[in-house]
Amino acid sequence: MADLRVHIAGVELKNPVILASGTCGFGLSYDGFYPVEALGGVSMKGTTLEPRDGNPGVRIAETKSGILNSVGLQNPGLSAFVETELPAIADRDVVKIANIAGFSIEEFVALTEGLNDTAVDMLEVNISCPNVKHGGAAFGMSCTAAAEVTRAVKRVAKKPVIVKLSPNVTDITEIAKAVEAEGADAVSLINTLLGMRIDIKRKQPILGNNVGGFSGPAVFPVALRMVWQTARAVRIPVIGLGGIATWQDAAEMILAGASAIQVGTAMFTDPFAPVKIVEGLNAWAEEEGVPLSALTGAVRPFEN
Ligand code: FUM
Repeated sequence: MADLRVHIAGVELKNPVILASGTCGFGLSYDGFYPVEALGGVSMKGTTLEPRDGNPGVRIAETKSGILNSVGLQNPGLSAFVETELPAIADRDVVKIANIAGFSIEEFVALTEGLNDTAVDMLEVNISCPNVKHGGAAFGMSCTAAAEVTRAVKRVAKKPVIVKLSPNVTDITEIAKAVEAEGADAVSLINTLLGMRIDIKRKQPILGNNVGGFSGPAVFPVALRMVWQTARAVRIPVIGLGGIATWQDAAEMILAGASAIQVGTAMFTDPFAPVKIVEGLNAWAEEEGVPLSALTGAVRPFEN
C-alpha cells in the first residue's frame, strides 16, 4: 500500500479523495455501498442559516456528457445540520467538511460561529453556487466580495477555511489570490459552469430556474486548466474538482497541482467511482515509487 496521505491546513486526510458537496447528502449517501472511511473526506451539502426548500420546478437537465442542476441550496438549515445531520457522521473516521452558503457577510459569519465547536473538521466557504439570486456566486465573481467574505469568516473561524471558487469569472486566479491574501487556508475549484437547455417542443427552458450549473465529464478539461493556473498562482493548497470520473482524471488533477480532489457527478452513474479512484491512485503511487503527495504539481513543461 502506497502512502496516500495528504495534509491540508494541518488536517490529515488518509487519501486525497473527497466526496463533493451536493452529491453525497451529509456524507453518508454511499455508506451502504462502502464504508465512508474508505475515503479521505466528505464535503457535505451546502448549509444555509435557515432551512431552504430549494428552487421550484424542474431542477435537473441531462446533457450529452454531464448534467445541469438548479437545486437552489435545498437544505435543513444550520440548526438541523448541527443537531441531526452532523451527529450521524461525527464519530466516523473521515474528514468532515461543512460547506456553508450565506446570503450576506453576516450570515457567513453566523454559520462559521455556529460550526466552531462542532465535529466539523474544515469549512468550505461556498461563494460559487450559481443557482440562487442573491449571495452564492455573487460573492465569488469579484475579488473585492470574495476577499470580504474570506476576511470576515477567517476573523471568527476556529476551523481551517477552504474557499470554493466559481469558474464563471474572467480570471479565477485573481479570485484565488484575493482569498489567499485574506487568510484562506485552501481553495477548491471548480464549482459548476453556468449553462442552459431548452425544450424545443414547449419552446421554454427545461430548468425551472432557466439556467443551472453544468457538471460531469465535459467540464473536466476546463477544470483541469483552472486548477493548473491556480496552483501556479497561489501558495495555499488547491483542491481540484470538476468532471473527475476515473483515477486517471484524478492523477491529471494532482499533476496539475491539486493536493486533493473531489468526486461528484461521477457517482450518479457509478457509486463506486470514488473507491475505484483511491485504488487507482494507490497503484499509480506504488508504480511511481513515491508517496502520492510527491506527485502534486509534478507536471513537466511540454517538450517535443
Ligand atoms: O443549487 C445548488 O444547491 C448548488 C449548489 C452549489 O453549486 O454550490
